[in-house]
Amino acid sequence: MNATINLEKHFPVLLNELVSIISPLYGGTFIDCTFGAGGYTKKILENNSNNVIALDRDSAVRSIAAKFQTKYKKRFKFYNRKFSDIDKIQEDNIKAIIFDLGYSLNQISDLDRGLSFKSKGKLDMRMGLNDFSCDQVISKMSQQSLFKIFKYFGDEKYAKPISKKIVQLREYEKIKTENLVQIIENIKKKKSGKNKSTKIFQALRIFVNKEITELIQGLINAYNILPIGGVIAVVTFHSIEDKIVKFFFKEYSEIKNSSRYLPKSDLVKKYFDLTKKKPITPSFSELKINPPSRSAKLRFALKLENGCDFKKFVNNFNYLKDIENLKFDA
Ligand SMILES: C[S@@+](CC[C@H](N)C(=O)[O-])C[C@H]1O[C@@H](n2cnc3c(N)ncnc32)[C@H](O)[C@@H]1O
Repeated sequence: MNATINLEKHFPVLLNELVSIISPLYGGTFIDCTFGAGGYTKKILENNSNNVIALDRDSAVRSIAAKFQTKYKKRFKFYNRKFSDIDKIQEDNIKAIIFDLGYSLNQISDLDRGLSFKSKGKLDMRMGLNDFSCDQVISKMSQQSLFKIFKYFGDEKYAKPISKKIVQLREYEKIKTENLVQIIENIKKKKSGKNKSTKIFQALRIFVNKEITELIQGLINAYNILPIGGVIAVVTFHSIEDKIVKFFFKEYSEIKNSSRYLPKSDLVKKYFDLTKKKPITPSFSELKINPPSRSAKLRFALKLENGCDFKKFVNNFNYLKDIENLKFDA
């Protein structure tokens, strides 16, 4: 039986651009770290010589994965796992590892999950396999910790008054999604192009889902399991993600200390080939059909060498990981 695969509301971002990067590698296994509605996986599996191993932390996508299983049989495997655990995958012929970060439209428009400021009721924001929800963050974190989360993960100018108001109000009532939106709107009086809650919600989603730690560990583990000649491709949606991915590829794609006085063994190796330094962004026609794709950036690199230790990469972003590791009683 052939299962009909309906990708529901989700529109895969930068799909043609991604295919043009990975199609020269067709004939092997591709890892889709962020299966979502299966848009990328479906396209890759259209070529009969490809297999896909797909991961997603959201158990709600299992029903979509089941349809892929019926249709593509042994060519498709799905794991309800976080991509930081990608190193548990044992597979020889990996051609490319793909990350399409953030949330699918199916997740954002499911208002019960509380990922959107249009939701009502209990604050949640969990994508899946989380240790705590947003409700615990808003009702338990100290004002100083909330301030840091809003400032560093949301770049929110009003981080201080918003965190102060949350701590005052929670003494009297449970703060639900609509109350948080109201607090933000009362403090941010000036009109701006974006919804006033965008930055605070982004910050809380990053914190609740440990997105920085996931991305850093996911990229390192992807490199570790990828054979030489394989490609890592990442689509980001906000500047923190993009800064991390850009550093990861750029730092290890340049030969440093290339002084002619240094012995050859002291030269720092080039671990990636970065053919395109600038990110690929959606075309005008994609923006027209799918406006939320406007912040998407695609970066990719080809692995050249084994043995990179990524110390500099990890250290460079420790200040963000420290915020993600803030405790409820801090
Ligand atoms: C933007 S959607 C991917 C859409 C997909 N490329 C498509 O074409 O349908 C991102 C997906 O990644 C998942 N995700 C986000 N962070 C994850 C993580 N750390 N580990 C595994 N899955 C993750 C989300 O649950 C969501 O389903």
